[in-house]
Amino acid sequence: MPQVTAIYPGTFDPPTNGHLDIVMRGSRIFDRLVVAVLRNSSKGTPLFTTQERAEMLTEITRPFGNVTVATFDGLLVDFAQQQGATAVLRGIRAVSDYEYEFQMAMMNRKLDPNLETVFMQPAEKYTYVSSRLIKGVFQLGGDINSLVPEAVMQRLRTKVPASRVPPETGAST
Ligand code: PNS
Repeated sequence: MPQVTAIYPGTFDPPTNGHLDIVMRGSRIFDRLVVAVLRNSSKGTPLFTTQERAEMLTEITRPFGNVTVATFDGLLVDFAQQQGATAVLRGIRAVSDYEYEFQMAMMNRKLDPNLETVFMQPAEKYTYVSSRLIKGVFQLGGDINSLVPEAVMQRLRTKVPASRVPPETGAST
């Protein structure tokens, strides 16, 4: 049986427990999984640099022996080819995600008919979690402890003023 490498691409600004849940599921079905951080996202200025996002992902995916972290620029299909990957892994949280994901999958298939997109669903408890909401809620002092890995919590605390950090997570007096 040939070894199957998959790419799990994304912005990961920051990585959440939902992302980690998809990594865990992907690592079970693919021989090798490359978590790939897009370097120049069109989503505007990120909270974390590409390097910070890659470092957080490296730390939180360490328990998975077949998972590595990389950054990429340009077309995903080109990066997949460089990595010898035959699959792209994407998480789908709700039906609302599907339209955008379907379009991307079809465009990637047009660009490289040999690259399959595989959708996986995170655990139900993470279906409403997004990096955008995590940043917004944390910046307003909300408790998002159970929704991101501890390594990400620590980095988030360095990005927002101490006065906004929720008391139970270490605000100064
Ligand atoms: O986490 P995100 O922001 O939903 O991830 C989007 C990502 C990185 C998967 C997507 O923007 C992407 O693949 N960008 C690379 C450029 C590309 O290949 N575009 C053509 C496919 S639509």
